[in-house]
Amino acid sequence: PPALRVGLIGMGTVGTGVWRVLRRNQALIAARSGRAVEIVAVATRTPARAAAAQAEAPGLRLLDDPLRLAADPGVDVLLELAGGSAARDWVLAALAQGKHVVTANKALLAEHGEQLAQAAVRHGRVLAYEAAVAGAVPVIKALREGLAGNRIDALAGVLNGTSNYILTRMQAAGLDFATALAEAQALGYAEADPSLDVDGTDAAHKLTLLAANAFGLPPALDAVHVEGLRDLQPGDMAAAAQLGYVVKLLAIARRGAQGMELRVHPALVPAQHALARLDGASNGLLVRADAAGEAFFSGAGAGGEPTASAVLADLVDLARHPGTDGRWGGPTAIPTLGLRADAPAAP
Ligand code: HSE
Repeated sequence: PPALRVGLIGMGTVGTGVWRVLRRNQALIAARSGRAVEIVAVATRTPARAAAAQAEAPGLRLLDDPLRLAADPGVDVLLELAGGSAARDWVLAALAQGKHVVTANKALLAEHGEQLAQAAVRHGRVLAYEAAVAGAVPVIKALREGLAGNRIDALAGVLNGTSNYILTRMQAAGLDFATALAEAQALGYAEADPSLDVDGTDAAHKLTLLAANAFGLPPALDAVHVEGLRDLQPGDMAAAAQLGYVVKLLAIARRGAQGMELRVHPALVPAQHALARLDGASNGLLVRADAAGEAFFSGAGAGGEPTASAVLADLVDLARHPGTDGRWGGPTAIPTLGLRADAPAAP
């Protein structure tokens, strides 16, 4: 069968990671997908990285306008890894042109997910976003597929790698906040605007996407109570440790008496708890479900190749579901955004 032709917007940490892993694992990805997965065109604000990619793959087309890439007839899937809110137009254009979309843009989905999901349904295309939550840890697929037969009762997670890295370094090495943040930025974990990480907003974005899949709640950021890390001092970590606790930025969703309760804030977690033991940029998610009981998922929550791992999972999914013309998927088995999971309860 013909290759799945991917148009990539964004050659930053994640885009570069996808490029590298796709080239390294090309043969095994093709074997698992039943056909090749190829990046055929790139639009980027970092032309040096795109030029380096083109040197490896001379057939690669470089475009300077992401919107043109979104409408390009030679592209089957738009892979949006640039972030930012302009991505909404690119995603809508790609869906309208009959392309599937894979994105890691959690802010976009948390703010406009419902509109984008409806557009995907209208055009019979897939909007996939495993990479938007918890980096390499396949939590969207876990909720959507692995736990699909359960009533989900509660979620508790460490969903921001940057803040977990900062907390770990403050706790273990006594670093001050600013130094720990600078390290996280140098390692490629932080958002372009790191206040999204340290103020809890990024974790809140991700929590709304998990809640969409677990509870069928349309993403609504203003339904989330959000507190970040800025007021923590190294002394707070030491005091917690003396009492047998670790400070973690937790994201929690659970059924309460008033409906769903969604919150992100620093919390004291017993040092032996699985969530307390996540260090560096790790993420973890604890799910309480009626049949499965408690399930815990963990792994690398940020960084180029770990996030690329999740992006490639979505691309392989799409490549495995050819449409009736054999070229690419019409409506596939992958539902959109998870909004039909359950009867929503008003928060
Ligand atoms: N800035 C994010 C984090 C990247 O630190 O978790 C992964 O979504």
